[in-house]
Amino acid sequence: MATATTQSPKREAFGSRNVFILSAIGSAVGLGNIWRFPYVAYEGGGGAFLIPYLCALLTAGIPLLFFDYAIGHRFRGSAPLAFRRMHRAAEPLGWWQVLICVVIAVYYAVIVAWAAMYTWFSAQLTWGAGNEESFFFVDFLKSADVAEVGVSTDFVPGVGIPLIGVWVVVIGIMALGVKRGIGKANMILMPLLTLMFAVLVVQALFLPGAMDGLNAFFTPNWEALADPGVWASAYGHIFFSLSVAFGIMVTYSSYLKRKTDLTGSGLVVAFANSGFEILAGIGVFAALGFMAQAQGTDVAGVATSGIGLAFVAFPTIVSQAAGGSIIGVLFFGALVFAGITSLISILEVIVAALQDKLGWSRIRTTLTVSIPLAVISMALFSTTTALSVLDTADAFVNAFGIMAVALVAVVVVAWVLHKLPALQEHLNRRSSFTVGMIWKIAIGALAPIVLGYLLVTELISKISEPYSGYPAWFLAVFGWGMVIALVILAFLLSLLPWSGRSHAKDDPEYDDFLVDEHYDPDPETGAVHIQKTDEKGAVA
Ligand code: ALA
Repeated sequence: MATATTQSPKREAFGSRNVFILSAIGSAVGLGNIWRFPYVAYEGGGGAFLIPYLCALLTAGIPLLFFDYAIGHRFRGSAPLAFRRMHRAAEPLGWWQVLICVVIAVYYAVIVAWAAMYTWFSAQLTWGAGNEESFFFVDFLKSADVAEVGVSTDFVPGVGIPLIGVWVVVIGIMALGVKRGIGKANMILMPLLTLMFAVLVVQALFLPGAMDGLNAFFTPNWEALADPGVWASAYGHIFFSLSVAFGIMVTYSSYLKRKTDLTGSGLVVAFANSGFEILAGIGVFAALGFMAQAQGTDVAGVATSGIGLAFVAFPTIVSQAAGGSIIGVLFFGALVFAGITSLISILEVIVAALQDKLGWSRIRTTLTVSIPLAVISMALFSTTTALSVLDTADAFVNAFGIMAVALVAVVVVAWVLHKLPALQEHLNRRSSFTVGMIWKIAIGALAPIVLGYLLVTELISKISEPYSGYPAWFLAVFGWGMVIALVILAFLLSLLPWSGRSHAKDDPEYDDFLVDEHYDPDPETGAVHIQKTDEKGAVA
């Protein structure tokens, strides 16, 4: 039994830089890429959307990815520990990110469970031709009447049982740790996912009508570029898609060795993620082109949003295409694998934070975190009212969680703590691609302006009319109440003391990490001094 004086075990690490890159791609490539991107792109002007998308990637996605890497690697900790080491008062930012991950994890697991069931259904064509929509909402989810928005206790075993399965798998992976669990899982699942996806896209391209789908997807609607909402959706999408600003990349980069090419790795991750996303768009729209032709309508008539696209339109394609079962198994199987590799990264943010704060063992922390989350996930999302709760939590946590914490983090780090020169220096020390003034402008000026604009727009739209027409009390609890509670809880968690067993108090490896690095800029000139020093880092 560990005592207060026992040193906690050595901080975990990825086996190699390649495993880190694969795991970061595994985190980035998720449900967002496969069912969200194709629709967001289509709605945002098809081919023309690639312009705001690339702008968002280059001016916000990649700079913020570097920002997260620099914080995690420089301060070598989970999000709360890394921010605390940057400045004591910045710790709540890390907990805010952890709590955002709590919310995302509980609903993300459910979508993975649906996809797992749909992999099975695809093989049997369980839904029966022409019946796909009612199968999903009525037979499978047993969704309550729309008028009946609320929290029901009617358990839906068809969702609850696979959901238990998803939690058992991810708990197993998490309990094995960073190297043997997360790293290994990504090494197995990512190549499989890529292979399945490549086969799926090729198969989709050979479906009759595929070219109509691609034309609909790529034909640029230049007018869409004049709509600020399209730019907003490109920026909004890139954060979720790249897994930036909610603690994941901070945590993952803290498991890297000291001498690592951070920016080079970041570029590989960012372009792999976008490549996957564009490939998903091609595959999904080729399949929609087929569906439109089979139904004698145009692609606009069959392209539905988010959940509908994956769980209603795809089963229809599976029913109608020759070899449809294979397409379905590949598509939903890819969704499961992509979802699992993202879900473990989301959970790792929470597990790593508690491990750092409490100094507990890996297994104890994993079980303490995951079992309550699994229970909440079951209680909220394997009942007949799952859809409205999921829809609200997702919309609010993306806007007023991820985007809000990203805004506060860049403003605090750049303008309050003046840490950008130090982080820039850290990135450039061992990286193949050096970042300069443009990076600092992207983080310190552009990101706050764009994020500020997006948040204000979201705020106005969500205040001016009730989201999805849900009742006020419901939005007050699962929307506004939830996002405000995250901020309050983040402050409270930062007030709890760090355990004597925690790395935060006494981490010889972290001190060693800093031994020849002293980055703090001169408060007057802002110049960064790098000098050999044995000064210990400003730990807790
Ligand atoms: N980046 C992950 C996704 O796209 C969370 O789903």
